[in-house]
Amino acid sequence: MTDPSGPDGARKPLIAGNWKMNHDHFTAIQYTQKLSYLLDTHDYELVDVVLCPPFTDLRSMQTTLESDKIPIALGAQNCYYEKEGAFTGEVSPVMLAKLNVSYVIVGHSERRRHFGETDDVVNRKVRAVIANGMTPIACVGETLEEREAGGTDAKVSSQVVNAFDGVKKAEIAGAVVAYEPIWAIGTGRNATPDDAETTIAVIRAALAQRFDPATAEAVRIQYGGSAKPGNAAELMARPGIDGLLVGGASLDPEEFGRIIRYGSS
Ligand code: PGA
Repeated sequence: MTDPSGPDGARKPLIAGNWKMNHDHFTAIQYTQKLSYLLDTHDYELVDVVLCPPFTDLRSMQTTLESDKIPIALGAQNCYYEKEGAFTGEVSPVMLAKLNVSYVIVGHSERRRHFGETDDVVNRKVRAVIANGMTPIACVGETLEEREAGGTDAKVSSQVVNAFDGVKKAEIAGAVVAYEPIWAIGTGRNATPDDAETTIAVIRAALAQRFDPATAEAVRIQYGGSAKPGNAAELMARPGIDGLLVGGASLDPEEFGRIIRYGSS
């Protein structure tokens, strides 16, 4: 798994771009090169940068990143939990690990909603990702109805505890959680830094209660949902928010580069 700590031992910010079903492997290569020209060593010292393209882009991007020695990590948006077999259309975590994929987004709300992923499936995937030496980015978040009914804390707590069920403490410490309120995804309406920080504290408390406080302290918890250059700095200024999972605003390398450089604007 990836090391969550920066040189000072604190949790190092992790900014990940989730391209969803966008960019073919040609545009992915151009994008990767363009983003790498916009960033320098100082940026990579401050922030861990991850790109999560569609599966079909992974091999081309791996080659680009490795041949140009670009310190951007590769992430996948999903995987199956079995390592091989008669599972038409699925991609194994073993195959992803072979491509030097470091992170796998698991349980994104779009997968839960459109593809019927349950907490149990999310848990199996989290365990398979860890078993193959990669880092899960486990997504949790409430719907607008749940928020309005006061159900946010219960929803995210149960999702995060279920996601890591049966995972060893030492493994959880290296993992990543993304708090993504569903009403904020792709809507242009982000959670306020206060709301994001409050719910992230609830997630950390749920991990502390289920495992222990030291384990919970080591987990990087990102915010996701309409993160963009204009709100990245104020979100990242909150000590509890360890990074961003960026959808729409990661599709353009210049826009994503501005998010990664939130500290220098
Ligand atoms: P968004 O998506 O930034 O476009 O809101 C975030 C996500 O779904 O991970």
